[in-house]
Amino acid sequence: MNRRDARTERRIAAAFGLGALGAAAFAAAYVIGDQTQLLGGALLLAFAGLATGLAIWALRLLPQGPYVEEREPMISPEPERRALAAEFERDQAALTRAFLPRQMLTLAVGALGVAVLFPVRSLLFRGPDPWRALGRTPWREGVRVVKGDGAPVRPGDVAPGGMLTVFPEGHTESSDAAAVLIRVDPARLALPSGRAGWTVGGLVAYSKLCTHAGCPVGLYVKSTQQLMCPCHQSLFDVPRGAVPVAGPAARPLPQLPLGVGPDGVLVARGGFTAPVGPGYWRKA
Ligand code: FES
Repeated sequence: MNRRDARTERRIAAAFGLGALGAAAFAAAYVIGDQTQLLGGALLLAFAGLATGLAIWALRLLPQGPYVEEREPMISPEPERRALAAEFERDQAALTRAFLPRQMLTLAVGALGVAVLFPVRSLLFRGPDPWRALGRTPWREGVRVVKGDGAPVRPGDVAPGGMLTVFPEGHTESSDAAAVLIRVDPARLALPSGRAGWTVGGLVAYSKLCTHAGCPVGLYVKSTQQLMCPCHQSLFDVPRGAVPVAGPAARPLPQLPLGVGPDGVLVARGGFTAPVGPGYWRKA
């Protein structure tokens, strides 16, 4: 051992000695009493001594890299290489022989390419505008108001505070044409301007489709004169043009102008004031 190594060994021993001292101090501090700082300091000394000794040992006494591990050349034996080449040639021959599959593959890929063009066409040419489509219901001026069974509705069919689901005559299956007919106290009506003549003795009619997500608004709370949508509890103020007063709906229910025909049957005096159903069609 040369002098340098001997000196290194002494340093390592000193570091480990410090570590041992720290450990002993920790034990002593523990026995003496609850000196948390002393315990921590002793532990620090113990671990620092150990770490320093190990670091010096690793850096000064152990052999340093880099190390290169030699290995045998990795070449396959000649018979294996010949077998692989033969198999490859066999596969290639099989591929060039497969005339029908190749033709069919070309056909399938070509057909797929053409099929992809169809959805692209939908992107280029717009379909029917939902805003316009929903804006057109069978309600027109003079169309008679009927019940679900097709029977015509007369003003006296709805009692004060009552509600009836009605349809345009001949369209009782039309879901977007359904309307609710409600009789409110005429003195409490406060419809938007221009709609004063749209009621018949306190009868008002609104689209039955909720303007939030299209659920049927079928619950009428007589005490507050509000229509409630059962899906997300939107409330519409009936005397004030069915404006939403609570819940997620943001648009009033479209109103249907009413009148009375020559035979005493309720009739529409036009279509709904706005497209029926969810308000998001506004953005279409
Ligand atoms: S659908 Fe009517 S409140 Fe949501």
